[in-house]
Amino acid sequence: KDFIIVAIDGGAAAGKSSTSRALSSRFNLMHVDTGSFYRATTLKLLEAGVPAQAGEALVTGLAGLQLDTKTEGNQASIVINGWTPDAAIRSEQVNANVSHYAAIPEVRKFLFDYQRSQAEIAKERGFAGLVMEGRDIGSIIFPEADLRLYLYADPAKRAARRAAEGLTDSIEQRDKMDSSRKSAPLQVPEGATLVDSSELNLEQVVEHVSELVSAAY
Ligand code: C5P
Repeated sequence: KDFIIVAIDGGAAAGKSSTSRALSSRFNLMHVDTGSFYRATTLKLLEAGVPAQAGEALVTGLAGLQLDTKTEGNQASIVINGWTPDAAIRSEQVNANVSHYAAIPEVRKFLFDYQRSQAEIAKERGFAGLVMEGRDIGSIIFPEADLRLYLYADPAKRAARRAAEGLTDSIEQRDKMDSSRKSAPLQVPEGATLVDSSELNLEQVVEHVSELVSAAY
């Protein structure tokens, strides 16, 4: 294959970003972290005073957001109204609110085409493929992906990872909301490969997943 799509889903702090980043440089893939899309959209809506509920204010708020893409190395990031998200999207305020906005169908619809378009962007920019991480990538965004992975790590491991990053994050609360929402819930996509990283370090996860990527070509 001259272009592959790797979809990586999983709960908060399951190791998706580190794994995706490592894969992107090893296989020359464009790396897209869709969690940052939801975070950036959430921050913009919070700043505009738009509450996390469907309705006119939300429609108007979303209509005011223009999306663009910026690529640095293998990393593609969202650009909203000319603003490239920074550390502000990792704040406790965003952690506490993002799952509420992400549960609203209009918000998901707003980001759907944009996420799908990343494959074309990756091709145009000469990458050998796309690795996209999130909650519904293998189920909704790219069900046709060449490889669909679900990363799992037990809750104690995940809490320890976040603590090591010095961050307070409502991991379990977010996972509960993300898994139980009606619209594109977090789930193991049908036919996806489950990777349990509870007993593995990052290097071991990357080795294992790299074999799966190689086999997907
Ligand atoms: O991956 P990260 O933890 O940064 O994602 C933040 C939040 O964005 C998730 O808790 C979830 O509510 C939402 N999200 C989503 N669908 C995705 C990616 C993220 O609903 N594909």
